Amino acid sequence: MTGLPSHVRIVEVGPRDGLQNEKATVPTAVKVDLIDRLGEAGLATIEAGAFVSPRWVPQMADTAEVLAAVRRRPGTSYPVLVPNLKGLDLALTTGSVEELAVFGAASESFSRKNINCSIAESLERFRPVCERALAEGLRVRGYVSCVLGCPYEGEVTPEAVLDMASALLEIGCYEISLGDTIGVGTPGKAGRLIDRLATTVPRDRLAVHFHDTYGQALANIHAALREGIAVVDSSVAGLGGCPYAAGASGNVATEDVLYMLEGLGIETGVDLKRVAAVGSFISDALGRSNGSRTGRALSGHP
Ligand code: HMG
Ligand code: MG
Repeated sequence: MTGLPSHVRIVEVGPRDGLQNEKATVPTAVKVDLIDRLGEAGLATIEAGAFVSPRWVPQMADTAEVLAAVRRRPGTSYPVLVPNLKGLDLALTTGSVEELAVFGAASESFSRKNINCSIAESLERFRPVCERALAEGLRVRGYVSCVLGCPYEGEVTPEAVLDMASALLEIGCYEISLGDTIGVGTPGKAGRLIDRLATTVPRDRLAVHFHDTYGQALANIHAALREGIAVVDSSVAGLGGCPYAAGASGNVATEDVLYMLEGLGIETGVDLKRVAAVGSFISDALGRSNGSRTGRALSGHP
């Protein structure tokens, strides 16, 4: 495939993937403000937190409080990560979760480091989560981490990715987000992976989730667009990193993705200038430099 999609849906993961790795506690009010501002900028899917063990990821411990305080916008979805039935219980208790994501890996070692179980065990945990969530009317997304390389095992085969993606679809996920967790992928490899997956998985059920460790994320996204992918995960100001993938830098910045998509004439329904202002806000709030090149250029501090 070489045609580009006319519309791309951006899944903003900054409030979750972006903040989960922050060392200093980010106040709940800042998280809420961040999510509200992202919604006002037109982002219709904003990953708002995670119901995971607070001992493993302390930064996400206030997810229920965040969800309770967010000013919900009609048509905007606020998914959360859920690794097991305990997480699902906590999510359902809020009464406001409409979508969740289970997260597995294509590499055994990463699965054990991240969620403390094997790939097979993770699927056994996710199956009842999906069953119950679907019965409650929720939507479930599935992540596959390490699709282009693993911090512990190195190379990951497309077959391992395909097996996990197929298994997650089979248990009820509506979409699979392909995570280049440590940002080691390059465009040729990313394109070939999607081409391989598409022999079995419909392209419209795939999304891409690139971290930008090696500066390849935008090029990888372009390769994915040419492969017919129309859902892209990104993080305002390029925040982020996975606590169980040492050295992995943030997600591709939402501002940079929007700038590229606008240049390609691809619609997103998102206001780049407003997202850039949100990027400045959160960078200031965290006391760090803005990780988005586009954000820095638009704010006059390139
Ligand atoms: P475990 O220790 O094997 O779980 O952790 P357990 O069932 O034995 O429970 C141990 C304790 O945790 C118990 O508490 C449970 O109640 C509690 P205790 O009795 O000791 O006081 N617990 C929970 N608490 C709150 N919420 C829960 C929950 N489950 C158990 N859901 C577990 C297994 C999965 C919970 C743990 O490994 C964990 O929380 N891991 C966090 C993983 C994580 O959040 N990683 C970052 C997100 S993934 C990512 O960034 C990649 C992605 O962006 C895509 C990409 O880039 O590739 C998505
Ligand atoms: Mg990630």
